[in-house]
This record gives sequence, structure tokens and C-alpha cells, in this order.
Amino acid sequence: MTDAPQTPGPNDEFAALNAASLSGGSGPLHSRLAAVMFVARYHGVELDPQSVRLDAREEAPSSPVLVDWLRESGLWARGAFMNFRQLMKIDDPAPIILLLNDGEAALVVGRDRENNTLLVRDPRGSMSDLPVAVDELRIKQVWSGAVLLIRAARAAAEEDQPFNLAMLGRLVWIEKATLRDIAISSVTLTILSVIPALMVMSALNTVIQYHSVNTLMLIVFVMIIAMIFEMILTWGRKMMEIILGSKLDAKLNLLIFDRLMTLPIEFFEKNQAGEVAYKVQQIYQVRNFLTGSLMNTFIDMIMVLLLLPLLFYMNATLTWTILIAAACIALIIGIYIGPMALMMARIINAESAKSSVLIESIYGIRTVKALALEPMRAADWDRRVAETTALNIEAGELGNWPATLTLPFQRYCQVGVLLLGAYMIITSNSSVDVGSLFGFMMLGGRVAGPLVSLAGFMQEFQRAQSSIGQVGAILNRPTEKWALTHGLRPKFAGEIEFDDVTFRYEGTKTPALEKMSFKVPAGTMLGLVGRSGSGKSTVTRLLQGINRDYSGAIKIDGTDMREINLRHLRKNFGMVLQDNFLFRGSVRDNIIAGRPGISFEDAVLAARLAGAEEFIERLPNGYNTFIQEGSPNLSGGQKQRLAIARAVVSDPRVLILDEATSALDPESEALVNANLLRIAKGRTMVIVSHRLSSLIDCDLIMVLDRGRTIDIGPHDELVERCAIYRHLWLQQNRHLDPTNRRNNPPTPTLAQGD
Ligand SMILES: Nc1ncnc2c1ncn2[C@@H]1O[C@H](COP(=O)(O)OP(=O)(O)O)[C@@H](O)[C@H]1O
Ligand SMILES: [Mg+2]
Repeated sequence: MTDAPQTPGPNDEFAALNAASLSGGSGPLHSRLAAVMFVARYHGVELDPQSVRLDAREEAPSSPVLVDWLRESGLWARGAFMNFRQLMKIDDPAPIILLLNDGEAALVVGRDRENNTLLVRDPRGSMSDLPVAVDELRIKQVWSGAVLLIRAARAAAEEDQPFNLAMLGRLVWIEKATLRDIAISSVTLTILSVIPALMVMSALNTVIQYHSVNTLMLIVFVMIIAMIFEMILTWGRKMMEIILGSKLDAKLNLLIFDRLMTLPIEFFEKNQAGEVAYKVQQIYQVRNFLTGSLMNTFIDMIMVLLLLPLLFYMNATLTWTILIAAACIALIIGIYIGPMALMMARIINAESAKSSVLIESIYGIRTVKALALEPMRAADWDRRVAETTALNIEAGELGNWPATLTLPFQRYCQVGVLLLGAYMIITSNSSVDVGSLFGFMMLGGRVAGPLVSLAGFMQEFQRAQSSIGQVGAILNRPTEKWALTHGLRPKFAGEIEFDDVTFRYEGTKTPALEKMSFKVPAGTMLGLVGRSGSGKSTVTRLLQGINRDYSGAIKIDGTDMREINLRHLRKNFGMVLQDNFLFRGSVRDNIIAGRPGISFEDAVLAARLAGAEEFIERLPNGYNTFIQEGSPNLSGGQKQRLAIARAVVSDPRVLILDEATSALDPESEALVNANLLRIAKGRTMVIVSHRLSSLIDCDLIMVLDRGRTIDIGPHDELVERCAIYRHLWLQQNRHLDPTNRRNNPPTPTLAQGD
């Protein structure tokens, strides 16, 4: 699940080629990065050299690394190979990056067609320098054809096309060269397969009539040659099909994941993981259809179109009977397509409900076991299984009908036509020649078969369409892609302002936040308190851009959040929740989480800051200890401290802790709280906690109730003036309440705790 670009080996440090050594910082910017930034700027996108995910094992940033970097920023990019002539021909004024052999880069910024030279620029040179004219001979000494092509928004928008049949068609069409080769080999194969039939025709007419052994030998020879060709071509065509299928597979996989990951969190909160996973996997049905039935039908139809004229030439009457039989089959299947499609939709729904029971049970296995819910889950599962089984039987029965009803017509095409042919020979007046009739019988099957399967194809087409509908229902939702790739990328200081913010969750009546206004300067440690459901988490969600359809304005350093690039925002905002997900991998990997430019030393510092160092060093393998899924080998407090380390390692300007210490035992909580002041140094912190004692150190505490700001101020003032706060405070510190002296000696000064 991690998006780590590689698994770091035991010794290689992520830092070996980190941002400092390449992208700014101490040394000058690597020329490839400079070149990419130059072209990106040409297309109106400002790239952040800190965000490139460099591969520590490579000397220079490779083409795939640069392409990833560009694509993340919403540009279209592709590595390619070109020769000098092709470069000269391009009319687009956008600069093109040449990836030079020595790992550097050059920019092609123009062409001098009269002198046949390229105008090239050093990406690190001053922009006031004139570009240098370079001819083919000179460029070939330092460059062997690798280029990086970058384009702006229009092409990037293609990725946001709705997911439907037309879009899949375009995906396949990109491979038109392969499709053309498959078509050519299919035509050739058809012709080769016709040869034996023609041979039999002449064999019957010549060899038998005139007892010509020479002709027979010739026929055998030609047939062997034809067979060898057929073998080679069949092999080649199959390979092309496999390659085409795999390419399509890879593209679909990338597309699905990209779309899924850019869907807003709201979507995942509303839909069950099991159902989403099952429905998205329907895409493989579509893939099978595209590379299986569709491809085969395409090939078959080529054969039919080529053979039909020949059959008509051989025997028009018999050809007509085959066509009529095929039409009857198509008619029968056509009648059943509608009901079958309805059936398929019901099955898909039942299957996805079934799979969500399974996934939910696995995911919640602790709760299931702890509450001894196994029998209930099993009963639920049984019911779903019974439901899908019944549906499958029903579907089978429904599908059985057309299969049975079409049988006579299929048999006619295979056998009946032979019998009819034989009858025609017997009763013929010499106008029917035996040779062509036999030839017809050999070839007739090749036409009848595909025609019959054409009807089956319609059925598969229907099924694929309903699968596309299912997948599209998920993938065609509005994604956050635009906000993730566009917008401002300011350097944050950390001032936060809510201006009359009202927000309502979809499907609820009362607003979760109502007319909320407050402003805290950069570097503030802000506490949020309030009863459960008062809107504390909602404030943090809005700050992260998770829910974006609020009214009013949220401003970071005075900039409206809607104008800020979402990925940039989230990168600069650290977040620790009550229950954090740790990925499978080592402790170190979990802290770094694959982010660029973070070294092992940074991870150690972050762990120290989070108070995690102490226990990490006691783990069997220290920072290399492997964490399993669900991290059963760590305690809650340890997990939480790792999550805090993971959040602070990138030195976020704003750090949000939402009930981050609430589930901890007092000792772990004390440990984390003790570090909070250190963590807060130099950044804005938003701390949500229902335990007021952990908020005493905050510069400001905001009291919420039913989505409204009741009061905001430091602890001392709030105790004095805010009734709700005082109530909460006394409730939690009853033992310190001066009016309740039965259990405690009066120590009111301690209660103020600062
Ligand atoms: N995903 C959601 N969908 C619908 N309503 C929600 C959602 N999350 C929270 N709410 C509602 O919004 C209100 C505020 O919730 P929240 O901000 O989580 O409160 P707090 O964190 O203070 O306990 C509550 O009434 C809650 O029921
Ligand atoms: Mg909450």
C-alpha cells in the first residue's frame, strides 16, 4: 500500500541523493530538474524541487522519476526516443528536454530550418543568454535520442474523461499499430486456411479423375508450406494479442488506482470497502471482454467477410441457408439479452454485498472475536451465499433456454448443410460439381461458427456494459484531482482564519459547523474542546481540505484555502488521529512513509521529538523492526508515538492532533504531552482533546458547542468567564474542586498547572 518508490536496501540511505544534494539546498540544481522546472513554468506550473522522488541508486534523475514528478503536478509527460530529423520537424514552440548521455539535460527551444540546426539552451544557464545552434553531428556526440515530452492541461484533462465504453475504445485504439498487425495476420491466416479447401477441390476434380500422382505431390508440398506459414503466423498473432492484452491491463490498473486514490475521503466513508473493491474488480470482466471476445470476434469477422464471397461463388443456395440459420440463432439470443442483463445486474449486486460481509468480518475480526459474534457473522454470510447461489441457478436456467433453442440451428450449420449438399449431389443435373461442394463443406463451418458466436458476443457485450456501468459508478465520481494538481503553492507561516464558516455533512439536517469565525496567528498552540459531536473533528477536516463544500472562507496566511493546491496543503499539514494506520514495513519506513528528501537522521530526530525513540531502541531490530498489518506487535501508545513521529518528520507548518492521546494509558499520554511543547515550537498546532488537562499549555483554547464557537482564550481566562469550560474543567478535576474537600486537601494552585 505504501507509495514508496523502492524498498531501501539495508545500507543505502534515502539521503544518498536527497533534496539537499541535488535540488537546491547546498549545491546548484541538477540540470535535469532545472530543465523540467523550466518547461513546467513554460506551461504555467511551478514545480517544487523538494517534491521530486529521486531514486538513490541512480546517478541522475531518470526519465520515469521526472515523468512521475510532472504527472503529480497535473502536467502530461512522457519519455520517448527521437532522432534529429524528428526533432527538427516538430512545430510546437514548447521546449523539449534532451536527456543527454552523461546524465545532464539540454533544452531545445527552437529550430533553424535553413541551416538545419536545433537551438539549444543549457537549463542552468542564464535566461538572457542566446540559445546555441547545434547541428546533427555535434548533438549526436552527447545525445542518443532520449527526450522528455511535456504538455499542459489539455492532455492532462484526458485522464478525467468519464470511464465508459468509448474511453476504453480509445485506450485500445492507442495500440492501433498492433491491431493492424493482428488484422493483417488474420487475413493472411484466412487465406492460408482456404488453401486446403481449394486443394481438396482440385484434388477431387483432377487427381481422382486423371489419377495424377504428380499433382497430388505438388498439393502435398504446397499444403506443408502453407501449414508452416500458418504455424508461424498463428504464433505471432497470439503473441500480439497477449502483448495487447497485457498493455491494456497495465493501463487499466494504473487508471483505476489513480482514480480511486483521487476520490475524496467522503466517498470512502460512505461506501463499504468490500463493495467498492468488488465493483472495481469488475473491470477485469471488461478487460477479458476487450481482449477475449471482442478480439476474437474482430478476427472472426475478417474471416467471414473474406470467405462469404467465396462461399457464394461455390454454392449460393447453401450459403443462404447458413446465413438464415445464423440469423435465427441471433434472433433467439437477442430475445434473451434483456432479461439476462437484468439478471447480471442482480448477481453483481448480490456478489458485492456478499464480499462486503467477508471483508468487514476480516477487518473487524477483533471485535467479532471479542464479542463472540462469529455465529452471527456466519449466519449473515450463509444468507448472502444462499442468495447468490439461488441467483446463479436462476441465471443458469435463464441462460439454458437460448442455448437449447439455438441447438437445432447450430446443428444445421455443422451437419445439416452437409446432408443438404449430399442431397444436391445425388439429385444434381451435372451443374453442381462435386469438388466445389466438398470445398464448401470444409469452409462452410468456418463461416457458420463465427456467425453463431456473434450472437454469443452480443451477450458478452451486454455483460461487459453492465460491468462498465458498475465500475463507472465509482470511478466517474468527481475526484479531487483538479484541486490536487492546480492552485497556489505558497510557503506557509501557519496563520489560520475561519470567516463565517458554515458546513453541513451531506444528508444531515443540522449544520456541523455554524457561522464559525476565529483567527489565530502563526505559531499558536490552539486547543479545541467541546462535547462529543460539537464539531471539533469537523474543524480539523475542513482545515485538511477533506470536506470542501462549506460556505464562508477558511484562510491560511490570508489566502483562501480554495485557491491552494490541495496536495501542497496536506503536505504542509501534519495530522495525527486517534487511531492511525501503520503500513506493513519497518519502523523507519513507516516514519518516512516514502516521502522524498527525508533522511534516516530526520526520522530519528522525529522519533525523539515524539518520545518514540526510547521504545524503538528497545525493539528487537530497532528502526528496522518490521511492523505487521494492524501492527499487533506495538502497544497503542507506541503506535501513537510512531504516528506523531511520522507527522512531524516532514516538519509541517501546521500540526493537527485529533484526540491523538485520548486512547492512551496515562503514562503514554504523559509522555506525549510532555513533548507537545517541544513539538509545537515553530509551528501552529491544533490540538483536539476531551481531556482539558492536556490543553492547559495551549496559547488559546476554543470552546465549541453544537458547531458554534462559544469562547476563545487562554485557560485562566476561560475558567473565569466561560461557563461551559468551567463546567467541563470542574467535572474533570473534581478532586481539585475546592468545594469538594472531602477527598482532597485544597491545592488550588496546582490545578492551574502552569
Ligand atoms: N461523516 C459524517 N457524516 C455525517 N455527519 C457527520 C459526519 N461526521 C460527523 N458528523 C456529524 O457532525 C457533527 C460534528 O461531528 P464531529 O466534528 O465529529 O464532532 P466532535 O469531533 O466534536 O466529536 C456531529 O453531529 C456528527 O454526528
Ligand atoms: Mg471528534
